[in-house]
Amino acid sequence: MMLKRLCIALAILMVISGCSSNNKEPQEQQHDNSLDKVESTTTQELEEEITAPNGTLQKKDQGEEVTSLQKALREIGYTISDNGVYDEATTWAVTDLQLQFEETPVSGVYNEATQKILSIVLEDAEAKFQPGKALPKKAESTTTTYGTPIISNPYDQLALVNKEYALPGDYLPEDLVTPNVRFPFTEDLPKKQMRQIAAIKLEKLFKAADEAGMDLYAQSGFRSYDRQHAIFASNAAEHGEEAANNFSARPGESEHQTGLAMDVTSPEMNFQLNTEFGKTDEGIWVKENAAQFGFIIRFPEGKEEITQYQYEPWHIRYVGEKTAKEIMEQGITLEEYFEE
Ligand code: DAL
Ligand code: ZN
Repeated sequence: MMLKRLCIALAILMVISGCSSNNKEPQEQQHDNSLDKVESTTTQELEEEITAPNGTLQKKDQGEEVTSLQKALREIGYTISDNGVYDEATTWAVTDLQLQFEETPVSGVYNEATQKILSIVLEDAEAKFQPGKALPKKAESTTTTYGTPIISNPYDQLALVNKEYALPGDYLPEDLVTPNVRFPFTEDLPKKQMRQIAAIKLEKLFKAADEAGMDLYAQSGFRSYDRQHAIFASNAAEHGEEAANNFSARPGESEHQTGLAMDVTSPEMNFQLNTEFGKTDEGIWVKENAAQFGFIIRFPEGKEEITQYQYEPWHIRYVGEKTAKEIMEQGITLEEYFEE
């Protein structure tokens, strides 16, 4: 990459000196300061354009910083537009880049860790990296057995997963860990797990809840596609498919498969998950404070038409502080957040 830039700078210098040589005596003998200025500005501009920008950027963001990120991504080989809008294509490129560096958390969000790896690739043409190698632009299967379109980037921290957009059947988050919080059972089950970033933030949320005198428990986090399949089949057998789908997601359509969701409850609720939780101290505290830790109430009361699920005051979904605050302050859903 460095080499390419040098070549561009050299080419510009050659063009500039070529132009000046048309204009011979007497100027030729003098040192032309204005020309130096043009040279250095042009080189400097090129340098600036292909630098990994500072700060955090994420889906939906717009502006110059996004443009410079897109330019840097193009420079290292991604065929995306530099339109200044952090769109799906930008999220895809960032995620694909993150996936190729083992130590870097994968989220589709551009942050300090991503800036580091982007800078490495920009500076070192030999860096072990290939655009598009880790994340195909399109999902292998396009729809689930229910005909729901499958998303191509399940790693995206802001992935919209619902009755319209499903996760690939084989998607299993790679960074699942068990958060150090209270559960009403002791067995070491997969449902205790969440993706690392969500687990860390859930621990912080629980600590703050403790300090506020809340008796909060985590009940159910990660579920594989197969586990969701079994749960939905059992609910459908008991209530009928349509009624079951009001509160239970079909396989591929559950946020629990992302590893970014957790159902929370309390002893007052007898550790059950029902709408009464929203009226308890714990339920009220969660609604008022979840966003500080990057979580939203994913299925709010009064938004059933939009989410296509019943009110679930217990189901919290990690989306990061910025998005969570916007969603919870405006009282909207993740669907509305992404509406144009
Ligand atoms: N209860 C939510 C909708 C799920 O099954 O993912
Ligand atoms: Zn849930």
